[in-house]
Amino acid sequence: MSRSQWGSRLGFILAAAGSAIGLGAIWKFPYVAATNGGGAFLLIYLLICLSVGLALMLGEMALGRAAGSNAVGTFRQLGGKPWPIVGLVGVLVCFLIYSFYSVVGGWTIAYIGKSLTGSILTSDAKVLGDTFNAFITDPLQPLVFHGLFAGLTLAVVLGGVQKGIENLSKFLMPALFVLMLVLIVRGLTLPGAVDGLLYFLTPDLSKVTGTMLVDAMGLAFFSLSLGMGIMITYGSYVGRDTPLLGSSLWVIALTVLTCFLAGLMVLPAVFAFGFDPSAGPGLTFITMPAVFAQMAGGQLFAVLFFCLLLVAALTSSVSLLEVVVSAVMEELKMPRRKAAWLVTLAVFLLGIPASLSLGIWREYTLFGKGFFDLLDYLTSNLLMPLGEVLLALFVGWKVWPSVAAELSRHGKTPAWLGVMRGFCRYLAPVLILGILVHNL
Ligand code: TRP
Repeated sequence: MSRSQWGSRLGFILAAAGSAIGLGAIWKFPYVAATNGGGAFLLIYLLICLSVGLALMLGEMALGRAAGSNAVGTFRQLGGKPWPIVGLVGVLVCFLIYSFYSVVGGWTIAYIGKSLTGSILTSDAKVLGDTFNAFITDPLQPLVFHGLFAGLTLAVVLGGVQKGIENLSKFLMPALFVLMLVLIVRGLTLPGAVDGLLYFLTPDLSKVTGTMLVDAMGLAFFSLSLGMGIMITYGSYVGRDTPLLGSSLWVIALTVLTCFLAGLMVLPAVFAFGFDPSAGPGLTFITMPAVFAQMAGGQLFAVLFFCLLLVAALTSSVSLLEVVVSAVMEELKMPRRKAAWLVTLAVFLLGIPASLSLGIWREYTLFGKGFFDLLDYLTSNLLMPLGEVLLALFVGWKVWPSVAAELSRHGKTPAWLGVMRGFCRYLAPVLILGILVHNL
């Protein structure tokens, strides 16, 4: 069977950036940065993305292209036993993340609807909080929207690599940037917005703490979609003549830029209205509507904002589904259509208890966490760091010669290769093990 390929280098970069740029960059980054001292967090986040983040992303893309296979097959071909387990963990984690990602993706669709009817356009924080809680704890509504979001993702993945994923990203990613710029201009022209701007841009190095480093690393890897086979899978669709360093630098630059823009979009507005910047998940669904309610033309901005979140979430969920689908297709010899439907059905079913655990199944907990929180904790804090350490060790120690050869395809050995090997061999495992131990 001949494998799919991206149609162009730009298409590849935008699809990979689309995977990276998601709820992590737009919804999580502003409030995590806000609770961690603003400017200092931004700086540390940047340093991690450009060092270990870059090394791991390049490593993943090189692995995928060298093997020309899915996440599991890549580890089998290049490393032999028992390494496919690392790919399998990645595929499993994508599956688990997708199940609750799709629930939140559904919320964004619902909030587009609520913006259109105007029902959330109030600055009464209590009303907004109650609306949000009533919605996510409702036994039926969030499930309908979860199904809708999973259906949209399925439609794209059924379209295949070029027609589905690449075309979607080529159209939606630029739209996302335009929308963000409009919202930033609106936010920055509010009276009082400057305080938020200063808070976000002035690094206060006394705010650098262990917890902050851990938060910054976790967010860096989550927002770059690293360690779970995404960039392996996307890298496997890349042509031989595409330079990987340039492509991964683009993906990282676009992701970091989006985080930066998201901070500029959310924080000045939040400060201008005197909201609590560390409101967590509420920052998006509770605080932002209050901001819109006090703006001229707020309804339009509200609709734009939630469309933007949906776009970002969709291009990410597509990558989560594609990793699982490509592994199922190739490992179990199944046609794309059947694999995509099966995985979507399974994800939909798994998302049901995740969603219900926020409402009517609230009492059922394990280790003090509901099912939704348990999925999030298990993947973000345990399985992802584990997968990343193993990936770094695999690239740095086990298959370094193949990776180095793949990255030296264009003429002589690049000078930065040694630095990258050092990052994969030593820096990444040590830093990430630090996260793991801290989380345990
Ligand atoms: N990076 C995406 C975001 O920021 C989420 C995501 C997509 C992801 N694929 C992933 C996270 C793989 C971890 C692993 O929203």
